[in-house]
Amino acid sequence: MTREWWRDAVVYQIYPRSFQDSNGDGIGDLEGIIRRLDYLNDGTETSLGVDAIWLSPTFPSPMKDFGYDVSDYNGVHPDFGTMETMDRLIAECHARGIKLLLDWVPNHTSDRHPWFIESASSLENPKRDWYFWRSAKPDGGLPNNWRSVFGGPAWTLSEETGQFYLHSFLKEQPDLNWRNPEVERAMHDVLRFWFERGIDGFRIDVMGMILKHPDLADNPVNPRWRPGDRERSSQIWLNNRNYPDVFGAVKRIRRVFDEYPAKTAVGEVFGTAEEISAYYGDDREPGLHLAFNFQFIHEIEPWHTPWDAEIMKRIVRDAERAIPAGSQPCFAFGNHDRMRFITRHNEDGRGVERARAAAIVLMGLRNTPFVYYGEEIGMEDVEIPEEQLQDPARLRTFGRDPERTPMQWDATPSRGFSEAEPWLPYGRADRNVDEQFADDGSLLSLYRAAIWLRKRTASLREGAYRELESLDGTWLFERGATGAAAAAYVALNTTGHAVRVAVPSPGTVALATLRSEEGRRVGQHIDLEPLGAAMVIADGERSILGR
Ligand code: NOJ
Repeated sequence: MTREWWRDAVVYQIYPRSFQDSNGDGIGDLEGIIRRLDYLNDGTETSLGVDAIWLSPTFPSPMKDFGYDVSDYNGVHPDFGTMETMDRLIAECHARGIKLLLDWVPNHTSDRHPWFIESASSLENPKRDWYFWRSAKPDGGLPNNWRSVFGGPAWTLSEETGQFYLHSFLKEQPDLNWRNPEVERAMHDVLRFWFERGIDGFRIDVMGMILKHPDLADNPVNPRWRPGDRERSSQIWLNNRNYPDVFGAVKRIRRVFDEYPAKTAVGEVFGTAEEISAYYGDDREPGLHLAFNFQFIHEIEPWHTPWDAEIMKRIVRDAERAIPAGSQPCFAFGNHDRMRFITRHNEDGRGVERARAAAIVLMGLRNTPFVYYGEEIGMEDVEIPEEQLQDPARLRTFGRDPERTPMQWDATPSRGFSEAEPWLPYGRADRNVDEQFADDGSLLSLYRAAIWLRKRTASLREGAYRELESLDGTWLFERGATGAAAAAYVALNTTGHAVRVAVPSPGTVALATLRSEEGRRVGQHIDLEPLGAAMVIADGERSILGR
């Protein structure tokens, strides 16, 4: 059997509104992405070297949730281009050996989707049961106690019929009823539509919520919740997240992927390592190829995971223990829903140093790494004046505009992004591709080196993960074929002082936050700078260290 492409891939997430504007409207578009593909991978080591791109939603949408409110699954939003541009993007990606993933939003549609408009129109409409419609309780109360992820109740009254409909997110995002076989079939057909056009797979939005308790039973209250905590955490999402029936639906989705060769599903899921692992399926039936593990970003809401070797070790240990044999984890340090990495880890002003170490860790781990656009140049959250804020989620929870600002291609006032006023303001000018491209000391160069090293080094792509003993505040792991001598060591120091980490066998530093260390022979230990990281390739590994 040939090895599946996603096992060796590094995936780059593009937020299409913010990558590159080509038509001067201040909004990024598909044509812009085409123009920047060579930056992502032109086949040479001067490019970033990513193997696949995931585009956040590109479909027609009223843009209440910036594309996660889809009004036509089989089209392209005019802000982004046309079907012709999409076809060209697919072809241009493939010409460079880049796979293209779109973002499938199965849990809900827009309230402007024709299905919902029909469904809302009358109690007898044939599509009535495509969504969740319930009358108020006899006492006038809401149908159940579920909250919306974005705050407030998950039910809104529709004047047309006097019933409430369920929306796990904005009221403009009504939830689809996946217990109705017609809904399942229609959504499966969306996948087929895009597979036929050449799309290589999908990131699947809120995978874990598509199947809910059959009676929509109330969620239990969370005894640990305190006033001031995020409202949605006031209950335990027992009956509408990771509900057992969801795993059956996942396996049926997988069968649609398997109707076509080499199509890949990566699910947005939340939970413990065990819950995440369940999405991969079991011995009898496969589920998703990959399920995100976001625990480096956040474990228990609403806190961020601290940059702490002990915590990171535990996260990976748990993930490795829980995941089914033959599957591999999928880690990310950022995405369009969370504060950017440097901003999260900058309490002492040393976020950039941590970002350098993060690049080495992410590429060193056994996983399919996902990199959010701009992470490779150290983009930070941008402070946005109230009147320029866009994301409605801010009204009841937290807004996500600061981490969605335009990609910074150069230091000019337009950042090389757009000739027009951009849809969100730019960040600090000194973080840009242009300045970092040829600078060996830059974060971009480090990312590029890490990605290409991984490509050249079989043990980094395929080898097993083994945690080794190391001092508190450091993390040492090896990668290599099961049962064989280690081929690569990765060491991380999350403390503010220099440390010396013992390694079991000699090798050569292939990558280090302190780049002058690269090429140094290592006998029995690796020296790490404060907050530093390094990767050592053991003698005997077949990787090509030279270019
Ligand atoms: C998760 C997406 O990542 C987020 O951006 C979106 O708002 C919700 N799902 C709802 O689709």
